[in-house]
Amino acid sequence: MHYKLLITKDKSNTIYSYNFDDIYHSKHGGINEAYHVFIKNGLLSDVRKKKEILEIGFGSGLNAMLTLMEAEKKLIKVNYHAVELYPLNKNILNKLNFCNLIDVNSKIFEKLHQNWNKSLKINNFFTLTKYHTSVETYVSKNIKYDIIYFDAFSPSKQSEIWEENILKKMYDLLKKDGFLVTYCAKGIIKRRLKKIGFNLLILNGPPGKREMIKAQKN
Ligand SMILES: C[S@@+](CC[C@H](N)C(=O)[O-])C[C@H]1O[C@@H](n2cnc3c(N)ncnc32)[C@H](O)[C@@H]1O
Repeated sequence: MHYKLLITKDKSNTIYSYNFDDIYHSKHGGINEAYHVFIKNGLLSDVRKKKEILEIGFGSGLNAMLTLMEAEKKLIKVNYHAVELYPLNKNILNKLNFCNLIDVNSKIFEKLHQNWNKSLKINNFFTLTKYHTSVETYVSKNIKYDIIYFDAFSPSKQSEIWEENILKKMYDLLKKDGFLVTYCAKGIIKRRLKKIGFNLLILNGPPGKREMIKAQKN
């Protein structure tokens, strides 16, 4: 895989993938987008104090790191699983500036990127298991999720991830009252999610985007 680093409007880095011709976060602000979509409208939109979360596309680990920080602050116990087909190498990870901007010890960030395919307790509130596999082949071992962070490349760049069979798989991976959040709000994706049985909440989007989707199972 071939990458380059970019700076977004909130000064946080993001990564451009030459292979997918897409960026990992919004150019309007990567940290702001991650916080708005996955933390504010994901983790914190639900009052339960114990959560199983699945992320599709672990990438830079930004969503996991923000979740860990909020979980600690709000005393939420999070069991975080993530699926990633193309783990980033140290070379690029070491160049990301997230830790300076959100005041996190870089050792925590490094820890998040160690140990694939096994469970790692980062602190009393956050346990992480990253699976080096594709969303297409991922099989959950007895766990259903409260929240899915669906952070794939955009439908125009990686359409297969947004096909009905994958979205239905997400539906089946959720608990009865679980939900999925994504930055994407394209009409065709809304229609597919509805057809599968999700109830859609169309929320204000992060900076630079009008809308985002929160899709509830029930
Ligand atoms: C838009 S990026 C977001 C990454 C991450 N959430 C972050 O904040 O850095 C999409 C991620 O999906 C991963 N990906 C691409 N195809 C995949 C697949 N078939 N299964 C699992 N992950 C995939 C990419 O490697 C990339 O890390």
